[in-house]
Amino acid sequence: MRFLVTGVAGFIGSQISKALLHDGHDVFGVDNLNAYYDVTYKQERLHQLQRLEGFEFRRLDIADHDTLLALPERDTIDRVIHLAAQAGVRYSLENPFAYADSNMTGHLAILEFCRRAAKAPMLIYASSSSVYGDDAVAPFKEDANVDRPVSLYAATKRADELMSQAYAKLYDIQQIGVRFFTVYGPWGRPDMAYWSFTDRILRGETIRVFNGGKMKRDFTYIDDAIDGLKAIATQDAVFTGERTHKLYNIGHNEPIALMDFIKTIEKATGKKARIALEPMQPGDVTETCADISRMQADYGYDPKISLETGIGRFVDWFTTQRVASGPAQRSF
Ligand SMILES: NC(=O)c1ccc[n+]([C@@H]2O[C@H](COP(=O)([O-])OP(=O)(O)OC[C@H]3O[C@@H](n4cnc5c(N)ncnc54)[C@H](O)[C@@H]3O)[C@@H](O)[C@H]2O)c1
Repeated sequence: MRFLVTGVAGFIGSQISKALLHDGHDVFGVDNLNAYYDVTYKQERLHQLQRLEGFEFRRLDIADHDTLLALPERDTIDRVIHLAAQAGVRYSLENPFAYADSNMTGHLAILEFCRRAAKAPMLIYASSSSVYGDDAVAPFKEDANVDRPVSLYAATKRADELMSQAYAKLYDIQQIGVRFFTVYGPWGRPDMAYWSFTDRILRGETIRVFNGGKMKRDFTYIDDAIDGLKAIATQDAVFTGERTHKLYNIGHNEPIALMDFIKTIEKATGKKARIALEPMQPGDVTETCADISRMQADYGYDPKISLETGIGRFVDWFTTQRVASGPAQRSF
């Protein structure tokens, strides 16, 4: 199959593209390579993909809908994996319009792309665990009430789900929304806590721990997330009745307390963390935990990598292969 992957230079976009290319699929990837985090990582992920057969790239902002809709490749696409977004909860307090542009205008542009594309491609798009807000009952089920977001990021992701629901009803576009739960691993994101904690602990710098450390996160190792996403992207969708829009949690179903998470990094780095306890940050939630029974039933999803193994692999990559360490050691 030929896939359009948006956000292809991002963490999850580059890894799903690599997995699809290895399986013999074609990937036409787009990304605007914005500077939300060090663009060197995005360029390096792209260089790795450009070595693989079947990969094409176009630098493009998906919110520029005229350019997106006029892409000559539009009518050749079998499926769309839409991952481009302004991610991050805390940054949405600083730069709200980046979220409106990439997450809302961008998502609508992708829906229009699918509506107009000749092959009526199925759309698989990224939502987020953050839609569950701070008062859903753990483990979070896909049909829980998600009308009480606590950040603009969460509100835009929920808005995407609602736009998708409307387009499924109006135009019969097949769509699957994936609510990812804290995906981490090698080639990951420098703005996320596992990265900045590891970096600071290794340098002997103090880490800021919010809500006095009383938080839990359902950490999902990148390979497990990609297994789930690839199954959705390559198999027939499991829709029931007239519905052509379905949501799935991709998580691990094993929430880890923040202090235990820090201990895991300490063990992997062999260094003790210096901790500054700080109050809860606006926009944050205290706990995330995915109910993954829907993914298990429809796709046989079975996350395997424990936090200890996953953080061990991340710290190994971070200390030996990170881009800053020089080109000789890089491998994707
Ligand atoms: N990593 C996680 O833990 C996590 C959790 C929940 C949801 N998600 C969602 O999964 C998706 C992928 O996340 P990621 O961790 O790979 O993030 P990422 O920031 O590494 O990747 C997103 C990519 O999209 C690109 N992009 C952003 N706005 C764009 C635009 N307007 N036009 C074109 N490209 C644009 C960025 O340059 C980036 O390369 C996002 O939608 C994110 O919100 C991720």
